[in-house]
Amino acid sequence: MVFRRGRGFLTRGETVQAVDRVSLALGEREVLGLVGRSGSGKTTLGLILCGALRPSSGQISSTAGRGPRCQMIFQDPRESLNPRMRIREIIAEPLVLQGVDRRERSERALQIAAQVRLDPALLDAYPHELSGGQRQRVAIGRAVIARPDLIVADEPCSMLDPTVSAEIVELLAELNRREQVALVFISHDLAQAASFCRRIGVMHAGKLVELGPADSITSAPSSEPARELLASSRARELLTYAG
Ligand SMILES: Nc1ncnc2c1ncn2[C@@H]1O[C@H](COP(=O)(O)OP(=O)(O)OP(=O)(O)O)[C@@H](O)[C@H]1O
Ligand SMILES: [Mg+2]
Repeated sequence: MVFRRGRGFLTRGETVQAVDRVSLALGEREVLGLVGRSGSGKTTLGLILCGALRPSSGQISSTAGRGPRCQMIFQDPRESLNPRMRIREIIAEPLVLQGVDRRERSERALQIAAQVRLDPALLDAYPHELSGGQRQRVAIGRAVIARPDLIVADEPCSMLDPTVSAEIVELLAELNRREQVALVFISHDLAQAASFCRRIGVMHAGKLVELGPADSITSAPSSEPARELLASSRARELLTYAG
């Protein structure tokens, strides 16, 4: 994926190779962790996987005979949740496109709230009235209501404290088990990704530099970027225990 950055009236801008020759096969219901430092191309790859960004070359295909139906969850739900809509409407919004009527949308929103363990009293609230963790549950609920084949969660925990973060990870893992949905979990925290993803891809400067079972990457990383990520994850864990 090539971007042209800083293009102006007189400047042609510089080109950025944000994702470079990445080849990846994702199994049905697989949970894949995608880790890498800031700017390594994780979000760009996630957007491409979701069909939200068309790659400058290359393609995405699915054995389902159509493009995979994908939903994305972002780091900061304040940005992705419409501040003028009630939580009930936000969760059920994907159903509007499917032509589901208002009453059924409301019922489905209530079921989904239970599934993502969101207090049903919050369905009439607006996003700013919720905590960060609650807002992330809303974003997850809106993603699963459309019954996607794949959810790409782009650093969904990085704005949450460690306890809430662990709850969100547990919720995503549970939905993957119950809802027949594959999951790409993007994180800069290798240990966190390895705690529930069987397979991990490590990105560095747009390239997938390592791809393999989580336990072998955490016990014997074979690339320098993976070693660095592991070291910073361990340092973060120590800080959390100390704090
Ligand atoms: N729309 C865009 N236009 C130009 N350059 C972009 C665009 N989006 C991303 N880039 C560049 O592509 C590279 C990869 O960015 P990307 O957002 O995919 O990284 P990331 O791994 O998600 O980083 P972070 O961990 O900080 O979220 C960076 O150099 C970034 O500046
Ligand atoms: Mg990103």
